[in-house]
Amino acid sequence: MAEKIAFITGGNRGIGFQTALELSQQGIHAVIGSRDLAQGEQAVARLRAAGANADVIQFDITKPADYQVAYDYFNSRYGRLDILVNNAGIAAGGFPPVGPDHTTGEVPLDVLHRVFETNFFAQVALTQALLPLIRKSPAGRIVNLSSILGSLTLHATPGSPIYNAKSFAYDASKTALNAFTIHLAHELRDTKIKVNSAHPGWVKTDMGGDQAPMEVSDGAKTSVALATLPDDGPTGGYFHMGKPLPW
Ligand SMILES: NC(=O)c1ccc[n+]([C@@H]2O[C@H](COP(=O)([O-])OP(=O)(O)OC[C@H]3O[C@@H](n4cnc5c(N)ncnc54)[C@H](OP(=O)(O)O)[C@@H]3O)[C@@H](O)[C@H]2O)c1
Repeated sequence: MAEKIAFITGGNRGIGFQTALELSQQGIHAVIGSRDLAQGEQAVARLRAAGANADVIQFDITKPADYQVAYDYFNSRYGRLDILVNNAGIAAGGFPPVGPDHTTGEVPLDVLHRVFETNFFAQVALTQALLPLIRKSPAGRIVNLSSILGSLTLHATPGSPIYNAKSFAYDASKTALNAFTIHLAHELRDTKIKVNSAHPGWVKTDMGGDQAPMEVSDGAKTSVALATLPDDGPTGGYFHMGKPLPW
């Protein structure tokens, strides 16, 4: 069988880089998207030094022109895309969440728009742009990097692990992304494509910060598992380390 081709957005660092590394260790050709080409090339050099079959394209998920660049790249080389990991994302401000950008009553609307633009609208638009190529894969997989912070059920449940960890813009953007997962999976239910949301865990990255309990080496496990699901695997789910999360 031809080698699988994966596109990992925001693959130059953090969980995206680790995802590219682990997918390539399974014989998958990992193409990372990086806003800064030089940083992306450095990341690819590190991946190749670890034995990976990896490449980079310059890619900013908030630039619609870049969707066509990505489409043309995969279409001209492979005529299909097997795995899309919608990993690129931003927080409303630093973690732990402190300050007005994290509040509900005071978050400036421009912050809300910016976070939704990257974490929701751009993810939908890129997926729509690449869907024709994913439909050509014998086993398409779409992984949306959500967060446990997108769970309405856990936010509404006193005593849950995230009950007091509220950052409205980020949380709501991931809830919206979860809605995209459910709706797209339903629309694709009669195809070979599986669409799932991943919560990687609280991971020590630039976004997760130093207090996070999980190392980056464990932070890609959920993304990788969902990107490589077998044909009888789930679709339209929300998972952390193989276990379902409440929506
Ligand atoms: N870390 C955690 O604890 C945690 C927990 C739950 C969910 N997540 C989710 O997991 C994903 C990865 O998080 P992370 O911790 O690895 O974050 P990170 O270390 O901050 O890395 C974020 C990545 O996204 C890229 N990115 C941001 N905006 C972009 C844009 N407009 N276009 C293209 N790329 C863009 C960044 O590129 P630049 O280098 O150019 O900025 C970087 O490669 C995110 O979706 C995040 O919400 C993380």
